[in-house]
Amino acid sequence: MPKAYAYTHNGGPETEAFIERDRPEPGPGQLLVAVRAAGVNPVDWKLRNGFRRPGAPETPLPAVFGSEIAGEVVALGPDVTGFAVGDAVFGNPVGGGYAEYALLPASIAAHKPEALSFADAATLPVAAATAYDGLRQLALPTGSTLLITGVGGGVGVAAAQIARAFGLRVVGTASEGKKDFVEALGALHVPSAGGALADRVRAAAPGGTVDAVFDLVGGEVLAEVAELVEDRTKLITAADPPAALKLGGSPVQRARTAEVLDEVAKLVLSGALRPHVTATFPLQRAADALRTVEDGHARGKVVIEVGR
Ligand SMILES: NC(=O)c1ccc[n+]([C@@H]2O[C@H](COP(=O)([O-])OP(=O)(O)OC[C@H]3O[C@@H](n4cnc5c(N)ncnc54)[C@H](OP(=O)(O)O)[C@@H]3O)[C@@H](O)[C@H]2O)c1
Repeated sequence: MPKAYAYTHNGGPETEAFIERDRPEPGPGQLLVAVRAAGVNPVDWKLRNGFRRPGAPETPLPAVFGSEIAGEVVALGPDVTGFAVGDAVFGNPVGGGYAEYALLPASIAAHKPEALSFADAATLPVAAATAYDGLRQLALPTGSTLLITGVGGGVGVAAAQIARAFGLRVVGTASEGKKDFVEALGALHVPSAGGALADRVRAAAPGGTVDAVFDLVGGEVLAEVAELVEDRTKLITAADPPAALKLGGSPVQRARTAEVLDEVAKLVLSGALRPHVTATFPLQRAADALRTVEDGHARGKVVIEVGR
């Protein structure tokens, strides 16, 4: 029977287990996909810990991990148009993605361009799409300076590169060990440790100011850098919506559309966006993949490759 990596109840890593489950039946509007790659994201362990997205129903347990996949269509549910068996696709699955088979709602799935690997495509539906949504929300004029906190992680590497493609100047906070990596993204690096973060960002930023903040860390880091932007419509976070709202900023508004997936895929094909998959694991080592992200200091993206 096909395998999937799941959590059996809410809690820590001890709740994780492989389960065997029947191949899911695609419902109306759904694609059944043979998963080739699944992106690993902090939300995966947060959901295991008990986090629930606002308005989301309670998740039936065991719940399979994973919110972004790429793979091949093996069956179509009723009322699917625009896709055929054999198509290579990527998107946000329902019912998990660390699995041999997953279900994708066809309305928000995209065709994978042939030149894009399955591993790279699997990094786009959550990390790159969040970066893209945030940058569109900020709608900064060319030449503006953007601060990205946590720039060396999954969303950050995409945000820095897309911002550069949009003609922005980027300052990014990251640990000292990621300095070269961050600079290779086209960003000015500010070490995240060392106190007086806002002052150090001012010292690094061209002209001593930043026009917007895209926060990917939250908590104290977000609170410290908020003072850098007077216009709080230019303060957004993917990491800590409650803290941003208290500071007058906002969470990233996710579009979750096939159009956004097509746009980020085009950026990869044009060479403007490199997904930076820095670690891959086979499905049997899903626990190690998740630990790498849960440790909080992954470099770029971690991907699980299925069927290797
Ligand atoms: N709302 C959404 O739809 C959405 C979508 C995607 C992500 N998110 C959220 O956005 C956040 C970032 O996601 P991600 O995938 O980029 O995560 P990630 O790959 O783990 O990257 C986060 C970065 O934050 C830095 N960091 C961690 N702890 C820190 C601390 N105490 N002080 C300073 N920097 C710290 C790390 O950089 P160093 O190694 O350099 O310290 C790491 O590279 C997560 O909270 C995630 O859940 C939300």
